[in-house]
Amino acid sequence: MKKIKVGIIGMGYIGESHIEAVRRIGFCELYAVADTNAELAKAKAEYYGIEKCYSSVDELLADPEIDAVHNCTPNFLHLDINKKIIKSGKHLLSEKPLCMNYEQAKELVELKKQYPSSAAAVNFNYRLNPMVQETKNRIADGKIGDVRVMTGSYQQDWLLYDTDYSWRLEPEVAGISCAIADIGSHWMDAVQHVTGHRITEVMADLKTVIPVRKKPKKQTETFTSNVPTEFDEVEVKNEEYGAVLFHTDKGATGVYHVSEIAAGHGCYFNFEINGSKASIKWNQEENDRLWMGYRDNDNRFIIRDPNNMSPNAKGYTSLAMGHPEGWNDAFKGNIYAFYKYIFDGMKGEVVFATLEQAAYTVKLTEAVVKSSKEKKWINVDEI
Ligand SMILES: NC(=O)c1ccc[n+]([C@@H]2O[C@H](COP(=O)([O-])OP(=O)(O)OC[C@H]3O[C@@H](n4cnc5c(N)ncnc54)[C@H](O)[C@@H]3O)[C@@H](O)[C@H]2O)c1
Repeated sequence: MKKIKVGIIGMGYIGESHIEAVRRIGFCELYAVADTNAELAKAKAEYYGIEKCYSSVDELLADPEIDAVHNCTPNFLHLDINKKIIKSGKHLLSEKPLCMNYEQAKELVELKKQYPSSAAAVNFNYRLNPMVQETKNRIADGKIGDVRVMTGSYQQDWLLYDTDYSWRLEPEVAGISCAIADIGSHWMDAVQHVTGHRITEVMADLKTVIPVRKKPKKQTETFTSNVPTEFDEVEVKNEEYGAVLFHTDKGATGVYHVSEIAAGHGCYFNFEINGSKASIKWNQEENDRLWMGYRDNDNRFIIRDPNNMSPNAKGYTSLAMGHPEGWNDAFKGNIYAFYKYIFDGMKGEVVFATLEQAAYTVKLTEAVVKSSKEKKWINVDEI
């Protein structure tokens, strides 16, 4: 068996999760890592026993041994690095958001069409939680009837204090949005994935709750709560909170909110879909179960159990009932789905997010920001 040799660019917060995931896939070999912070790249390569370690994207891409490349750099680098990966003819797995704005997203989608022999995906990892796949299959099987309403939120607290800082707050590095692009993108991708609906109109209210923050003078790790001793007081433009009303192409309606200042929440990502027969609800922090609600029957929890899952969802779970599968497993599941597709000769179910789908999510983010600025409903196709 010829293994797929993988290189990962960006050894920060999420780069490490990519390392862990690839190492768990039997037909992949984690072959190289790269980071402009050469010391960091070297430390990760040594820790994980990775053969090659580079300090630039170009060096990694020039390595003919590498078949596939993950882009785990901050958002402002996604366009250029994704373009380079596509042009190298290697498979691309980009972190979300696909890029900074819809103009860039279209450019990437068009470019990719010229390289049909490689695959590309964007890492909307929540899709591959087994119970998210179970939700998708239950909805497709008509278990909740016609989808009418979608609600939920994604809440975290890592920007709660004015001493918390991230490049996600800076438009030049993150794009025009913090919370919507960062976690709202996951929410919108997940509900569209499970329902098969497309969000087509939005009405949003975004807020920069802490307009001045203490930016550390030295680079710090993402999501750490260390209070910097040396900092500059900077004005913040991007939002930490947002609420979005929306309509879908199939006549459903919905509302969600995102917050990165919600004390006590680490990864409270939840959605509820109300149908004409029943409701179905999932919460990432208790991710091994679903809730189903009925008006004329007992409400129930469905516990993840490979023996009783929908046939199409069963392939995306691996542990027996009672042995919780968590965030890392779903993350691995998404990356596994991408590599299984490649390993099978780019055939089979495309359950991971394609470039086109991720480009649409970038478009949605832009529509949400525009709506909040202009205080009106925005038809997403106007973007
Ligand atoms: N899918 C998810 O759940 C998830 C979670 C967190 C982050 N992300 C995404 O992952 C990306 C990275 O986020 P993060 O939190 O890991 O950021 P981070 O700041 O912790 O890490 C980014 C790394 O990229 C490196 N880097 C910067 N420029 C580079 C270059 N030109 N070449 C090579 N390396 C370079 C930095 O030195 C740093 O180590 C973002 O797009 C973010 O949205 C996704």
